[in-house]
Amino acid sequence: MTHTILEPLPEDQWFIDSPELRSFVTTVREISASTSENRTQTLARLEPYFQELLVQQKWLGEKFVQVNPESKMGGGIGQWLLYRAKDRSLTVFSLVIPPDSTTPIHDHLAWGLIGLYKGNQQETVYRRVDSGDSEGHAELEVVEVRSLQPGDIYRLLPPDGDIHAVKTISQTASVSIHILGNDTGCILRHQFIPESHSVKSFRSGYSNAPCKEEEEKEHAQV
Ligand SMILES: [Fe+2]
Repeated sequence: MTHTILEPLPEDQWFIDSPELRSFVTTVREISASTSENRTQTLARLEPYFQELLVQQKWLGEKFVQVNPESKMGGGIGQWLLYRAKDRSLTVFSLVIPPDSTTPIHDHLAWGLIGLYKGNQQETVYRRVDSGDSEGHAELEVVEVRSLQPGDIYRLLPPDGDIHAVKTISQTASVSIHILGNDTGCILRHQFIPESHSVKSFRSGYSNAPCKEEEEKEHAQV
């Protein structure tokens, strides 16, 4: 299993000025702090608030529903950071997948809620069935394939539901909102390639915010 230790940030980061999102994040922080011993409860208690946020279609600006041709995930997928806690224990971001594009099969390594905001997606959920002892090797089996409509929410509670691939099946890009208990874009996580029974580390990054490692690389190049 890969672990990444990231330095704390100087302060909480907001990439969008939205009273709806601010109020939601306050609720998430209260609930996640009071249920830190039981993440099943965290997700169950958050879900109705998240549902409310998803049905409000005005708070997410145009900038955060754009595809990104430079995407590190490939396929023009935009991953737009909206909020990141100072200690990186909570992030909110939008994921924009162009029509017919599919994410790599990947994990998240933290509790989370993902809700569809626009478009339609097909999600394939996998489970790892090997021991994980052999480096670079992984065997997956499909747990479920489901279609998602705007307003649908699914839960991540590793290992349950943590490995998946998502495809846009609408004519327009799909947009999903992610609430994750880590700095998902900046940690090293896993990408799975079932055809070769293999797994490799990857860092998805964000389309609008560097990770510390990227900043260091950029400085080194100057
Ligand atoms: Fe995902």
